[in-house]
This record gives sequence, structure tokens and C-alpha cells, in this order.
Amino acid sequence: MYESEFALDEDLVYLNHAAVAPWPRCTADAVRAFADENATFGARRYTDWMATEADLKRQLQRLINARSDAEIALLKNTSEALSVVAYGLDWQAGDNVVITNQEFPSNRLVWESLAKFRVETRHADLAQGDTAESAIIARMNDRTRLVAVSSVQYATGLQLDLTTLGAACRERGVLFCVDAIQSLGALTLDVQACQADFVMADAHKWLLGPEGIALFYCRHAAMDLLDLKQYGWHMIEDALNFDAATWEIAGSARRFECGSPNMTGVHALHASLGLIERVGIPGIQERILDNSRFLFDFFNNLTGSYRLVTPQAAGRYGGIVTFRPLRQSAASLYERLQRKNVICALRGGGIRFSPHFYTSREKLAHALALLPP
Ligand SMILES: Cc1ncc(COP(=O)(O)O)c(C=O)c1O
Repeated sequence: MYESEFALDEDLVYLNHAAVAPWPRCTADAVRAFADENATFGARRYTDWMATEADLKRQLQRLINARSDAEIALLKNTSEALSVVAYGLDWQAGDNVVITNQEFPSNRLVWESLAKFRVETRHADLAQGDTAESAIIARMNDRTRLVAVSSVQYATGLQLDLTTLGAACRERGVLFCVDAIQSLGALTLDVQACQADFVMADAHKWLLGPEGIALFYCRHAAMDLLDLKQYGWHMIEDALNFDAATWEIAGSARRFECGSPNMTGVHALHASLGLIERVGIPGIQERILDNSRFLFDFFNNLTGSYRLVTPQAAGRYGGIVTFRPLRQSAASLYERLQRKNVICALRGGGIRFSPHFYTSREKLAHALALLPP
């Protein structure tokens, strides 16, 4: 029913939202209109563009239930936002960061790079302990300054219980950083309920936006903990007063945006979030989880041929379903799917399907019918 919001080629089965999503029609229209306007009038309506940018921040504020839009910055990507946190904090030799053994490289390398300041990165093995959260909490000690996790793991599709982790961090005075790129736009995220200090997510996956524009949420109380490493006109309190001899850093998260915004990305993501808000995250989440359960049922009926990598317990999965074929290599099955126009990914030693809320049952069934029994 929502398929008509997208202009995808009829022959494609697009199961790759955990990589790069297609744009909805409204987003493509917004970018076309923005291009026409630039070509015809230049930046004559720049104040309107700034209003769209401000509105985008309010959309993002609502999406994550931030207390204020002053806690939202627009950065280039998730990796940049992680670097703003990692290189903003005042580390002491002997401090440590706890991450998991399933993180995408962006949420691992940046922490490991702090070894030059004698900061240790401790990897929690999520298979150890009664729950993934207890495995993470067990890796914390009195030198832990920050815990950084993905809300949903990119390869296994495991969803973490952010509320439990956030409470454990707050209790110990540890900062809590959430890479939400694999859940934002698909699942509810409440930064107040999970007590996150920092949340980042690029637009090009579940948010159905373009690459190169990302949410960075910084809890108001954590803002001054981050020393700034980039400076420019846009990040000061009185940004439009170019003649002022003195200046002070913006009190809001705009302090993390040193120069001109990505206005094309702003217009595109604003349109994508307009669609997400019209459908509503509760409905989107329900449809996404339902898709995952439909896929689980298929593989559970073929246990001799496939093994599910993604956990199936309620609350433990999101929109990613990864499976390993047992009778042929994942790579050869992946090649076959590509040839048949099923767009998916090779991840975690298996094949990753990541349909979105609008993906129809017919499309999913079509992809599954291509898998040998
Ligand atoms: C969990 C996770 N974090 C970060 C990234 C990279 O994000 P970006 O390109 O926005 O830095 C990805 C991309 O796949 C990811 O899956």
C-alpha cells in the first residue's frame, strides 16, 4: 500500500535499506525542486532554506524525543559524529571505552585510535553473559568513561536494550553513546528514556534520505564535555554578525556545525522525514518487525538448508535478517540473488535482507522463492 510512495523499478526487489535506501518520490521531488530553484533564483530565498533547516531539526527532535531542538546538530555522517565525541572528550591515560565485538568499523576504529592517548578499547563479547547487555556491563570498570554501541548491529541484526544500558551507564557516571544508523527511521528511539548522551545516524539507511547528512544528538548537559576541533562562522552565537570583533561559541548543538549547511541534503531529508512522520514510527516499526517475522518463518521451515544469524526473540531484532545457506556458499547465493535483481548484502558470513515498511509481502515472497530449498 505504501509502495506507491516509491518509484522503484518494478523488476527490483529492494532488500538493502541497511546499506543505502532508495529515496521516496517526495524526496526526489524535493531535490528536483531545490535544483530548479537554485538554477533559476540562486540563493534568493536563503531565509526560507534556513527555515527548512530549522524545521528539519524539529522533525529530528520529535523522532528521538529530545528535550530541545538545540540538542540537534546536522553533520556529514555517522563516522564524523563519532569522531566529534571521541576527539572532544578530555581523556586521561588509563581511561577506557567499552564497545561490542559486533560493531561496524566506524564505531570501533575511532575508539581504538585513542590508544595514542593510552585509552583502552574494551570489546564486550555479546555471546558471553546471560544477555548482551550484561556482557557489556561486565566489561565496565572504574576507569570506563564511555560505552558506545549500535542500537541494532549491522551484520547480525541484534537489537540492544538501550534503556538497560543507559541506566547502567548513568548509575556509574559513564557516558552513553548510541550509533543509531541501523534503527533510526525503523524503530522507536527515545533519548530521554534510554538516557543517551550522544546519538548519531546518517540519513541514507532507514531514514530514507541521502548520504552526507546525519543527525548528531548531544544531550544539553553533555555539550560542554566536548572540546571543539573545528571552527568557523556558523558555530558561534551571533553567526550572522560578520563584523563582530568578539564571539562566543553557540550554546546549542550548532557549535558542532562549523560552516555552511548541506542545504541539498537538508531539503531531501526534510522530505523523507515528512513521509516518515505521515506514516508514523509506531506503524513503520510494526510493519518492519512483521517483515522480519515473515522471513524468520520461512527459514525456520528450512533448518536443514539455512541457519538464521539474527536472533528471533522479541525485542532482539529490528529490520535486518541475516541468514547463512548451509548447502552452498553465501557468496554464490548472493551472486544469484543479484542476477535476479534482489538487492541485498553479504554481511556477517551470510546474506542480509533489510526490507523497509513499504516492502510488500509479494516482493518478499518473490525473493524467498529464489532461494533453493
Ligand atoms: C552501524 C553503522 N555505523 C556506521 C555506519 C557508517 O555510517 P556513515 O557512513 O554515516 O559514517 C554504518 C554503515 O553501514 C553502520 O552500519
